[in-house]
Amino acid sequence: MKKILSGAQPTGVMHIGNYIGALKQWVQWQDDHECLFMVVDLHALTLVQDPHELRENIMRTAALYLALGIDPKKSIIFVQSDVKEHAELCWVLNTIARMSELKLMHQFKDKSQSHPENINVGLFDYPVLMASDILLYDVDLVPVGEDQKQHVELTRELARRFNTQYGKTFKMPEMFIPKTGGRIMGLDDPLKKMSKSASSELNYISLTDTPDVIKKKIQRAVTDTQGGVKTGKDKPALTNLIEIYHLFSNDSVEDIEARYEGKGYKEFKENLTEVLIQFLQPFQKKFSQYLTDRQFLQTVLKQGAKDARVQAEATMKKVKDAVGFGY
Ligand code: TYM
Repeated sequence: MKKILSGAQPTGVMHIGNYIGALKQWVQWQDDHECLFMVVDLHALTLVQDPHELRENIMRTAALYLALGIDPKKSIIFVQSDVKEHAELCWVLNTIARMSELKLMHQFKDKSQSHPENINVGLFDYPVLMASDILLYDVDLVPVGEDQKQHVELTRELARRFNTQYGKTFKMPEMFIPKTGGRIMGLDDPLKKMSKSASSELNYISLTDTPDVIKKKIQRAVTDTQGGVKTGKDKPALTNLIEIYHLFSNDSVEDIEARYEGKGYKEFKENLTEVLIQFLQPFQKKFSQYLTDRQFLQTVLKQGAKDARVQAEATMKKVKDAVGFGY
């Protein structure tokens, strides 16, 4: 049995890329492994948030985890800011992390470009907080999408550095990125990843999009100049759409290509729309049920925080002993 931890930011939109790249794996692993899943609200603060919206989005993200099938009887579900050790360990790791390595992080560079008015210290420090999230729980495996690879690599480097400097304290985590679906691309630009913070809503299908919206977004999804429903290096748009089709329907890529051989995009797009609606409708029904049951959500999160705290406190005690705190 492995210990697994992952998390997502409560930033309103959760899209099919988040599901395919990460959350789908979370659900599959919880039967055989010890799992912790976080709503990472401390990370969310690195972009400006409206407090009312943030509070609501924390609940929405928790409801979404439950609706996708994460079961609080099997997994610990908690909100990051409920466990103060995340911020505490982050400070200690800040003292061994180097400015030079944080400057290389793609996400920092991207977000600094998209939000030049708010390049805050938290944004720069984001990967160290993520390392704290992981190292607090003696985790074996971290399932994430490809965009988080650099952050998990940094986590490993910080664990190695800390252990060398202060004696073995942290376990070395591995990461899991799915072979297909680790990087779902934008529907409006298949050369950039699908992203919650994209400027156009046509970039993504949100898990809460209505059938009409899904239909419109798939209809307007860009296609390649080379015709045909085929994957290939010179066909990034169709490769992405076929991958989405495959991952939501379980039909193989070869079967999908064969089915639409010699046909235009229209029928393929109509069927892809249907595949997404079929998947999302039952999920959305459960999502609204969970969202209205605030008391249940709060009970789950409070219990999750309690369980997570026990583990985080134990690691933080080891860290304090290792660095020489306490008297
Ligand atoms: P976040 O909230 O941006 O995204 C949640 C998960 O979705 C994955 N993802 C994608 N996968 C495939 N294709 C895409 N287009 C796509 N976009 C996003 C992300 O890789 C992620 O796995 N920093 C993290 C949250 C975090 C975390 C952690 C994760 C904080 N601490 C500790 C693991 C362990 C983030 O912002 O994810």
